[in-house]
Amino acid sequence: MSGSLDDRRVAVTGGAGFLGRAVVRVLRARGYAEPFVPRSRDYDLRDPGAIRRFLDDARPDIVIHLAAVVGGIELNRRQPGTLFYDNLIMGTHLIEAARRAAIGKFVCVGTICAYPKHSAVPFDEDDLWNGYPEETNAPYGIAKKALLVQLQAYRRQYGMQGIYLLPVNLYGPGDNFDPETSHVIPALIRRFIEARDCAAPSVTCWGSGTATREFLYVDDCAEAIVLAAERYEGEEPVNIGIGEEVSIADLALTIARLVRYEGSIDWDTRRPDGQPRRCLDTSRAAERFGFRATTALEEGLRRTIEWYEANREGTAESPV
Ligand SMILES: NC(=O)c1ccc[n+]([C@@H]2O[C@H](COP(=O)([O-])OP(=O)(O)OC[C@H]3O[C@@H](n4cnc5c(N)ncnc54)[C@H](OP(=O)(O)O)[C@@H]3O)[C@@H](O)[C@H]2O)c1
Repeated sequence: MSGSLDDRRVAVTGGAGFLGRAVVRVLRARGYAEPFVPRSRDYDLRDPGAIRRFLDDARPDIVIHLAAVVGGIELNRRQPGTLFYDNLIMGTHLIEAARRAAIGKFVCVGTICAYPKHSAVPFDEDDLWNGYPEETNAPYGIAKKALLVQLQAYRRQYGMQGIYLLPVNLYGPGDNFDPETSHVIPALIRRFIEARDCAAPSVTCWGSGTATREFLYVDDCAEAIVLAAERYEGEEPVNIGIGEEVSIADLALTIARLVRYEGSIDWDTRRPDGQPRRCLDTSRAAERFGFRATTALEEGLRRTIEWYEANREGTAESPV
């Protein structure tokens, strides 16, 4: 399939989540019919019966599969079993049901957490299987990576058209700011704003600050997913990122400056750093479907902070 999705029916699992809402916005902006979003309260996608009901109700031509249990390092440490089971079982039942229902295209969204802990930087898709992931996010990363194998096997045996994308860490307005489950950018924004507001002399951050990460603005990722759904048909996985690396220490300094926090930053080195370095080679996405990220980190952070400052009423207090 190439060109516009035009009048094809699109279903977006996880379409009410952080990335899902952005994907739905992109689909609407490009003039597609309103996508079907199966909410977990109506269709628990861990249940094959609920999946069949969802496909019967939605009758999609294309499924974009984003539904997942996701979180930061703390959730990965506390609930590795849930992260493995829910993500594997939702994806594997859904791909099987999509095959049986002869869905025209299946777009599966994986994660950078699938990469080996010590991948050469920038991460190349061909190195995906050259080692075990960083231990804390291995259950999540491996569960999602198994879906790549399933899609490739189904393509060979049944001719099913499934593609697989590997987004880097995302951030942006509407992210999850719950201190129990948030990723690093919303966690830091919240902590520095709370420290600023109570004039705390210092903020202690987890780890050494030396680990590096790459961050992609959520709307850029959504654009990439829709472009791939329209234009990409290959069996090889494709990285989705911006191809720029920043240390956690530099990220913390930037966020502190942007929120006007004037105290000092301490590092709690007893806490884990997670994977030492993360940065993607993004050339395959550019070559295969013309995706290039356009939102620079500082601009994206500004928009995210603005959104949080305007929307933070009602969120639970977090200790600084
Ligand atoms: N956030 C990142 O940094 C990042 C980075 C790389 C890849 N990804 C991938 O991007 C996708 C979306 O992530 P996100 O950050 O947008 O997550 P999110 O905001 O937590 O959204 C996940 C969605 O999954 C749905 N879901 C969870 N369990 C379900 C179940 N049992 N049945 C049906 N639906 C269920 C939820 O639907 P309800 O709202 O209806 O409960 C929720 O809206 C995931 O596949 C994730 O692995 C995310």
